[in-house]
Amino acid sequence: MAMRSRSNDWATETDAGWLGPSVPRTAVVAATLICLSLSAAVPAAVLPDGATLFKQRCASCHSLRQVSGRVQTRLPADRRDFLQRFLRTHHVHDDDEREALVSYLTAEASK
Ligand code: HEC
Repeated sequence: MAMRSRSNDWATETDAGWLGPSVPRTAVVAATLICLSLSAAVPAAVLPDGATLFKQRCASCHSLRQVSGRVQTRLPADRRDFLQRFLRTHHVHDDDEREALVSYLTAEASK
C-alpha cells in the first residue's frame, strides 16, 4: 500500500538535520546546553510545593482537615496509590504537581 502518514514525511528527508536544513547543528547544541544549565541552576524555583498547590487548587472546595480525613479512611500503605489515581482525574493533571500534592497530603494524613 502506498499510504504514508503525513507526519512522517519530515523525518524521511535525507540530508536535512532533524530540525530541517535551515537550523545549524551548532545552534541546536548551544540551545540544548543553555536549557540544561538553566534547569540545573534553579531546581528549587521550578519544583511545585504541596502546601501552596493545595491552597491554590483545592482550598476553594475543601479544607485540609476534610481531605486529610478522606485520606485517613485508607490504609497507610494504600494512600499514595489512591491519591495518585484519584487526583489524575480530579484537578491535578500535571505529574510533578500531583507528586508534590500526594507527598504533602500523605504526610498530613499521618500526623
Ligand atoms: C470544584 C470543587 C473541587 C475542587 C477544586 C477540588 N475538589 Fe476534591 N472533591 C470535590 C467534590 C464535589 C468531591 C466529592 C465527589 C467526588 O468524589 O468527586 C471531592 C472529593 C475529594 C476527595 C475524596 C475522594 C474519595 O473517594 O475519598 C479527595 C481526597 C479530594 N476531593 C481531594 C482534592 C484535592 C487534593 C484537590 C486539589 C487538587 C481537590 N480535591 C480539588 C470538589 C472539589
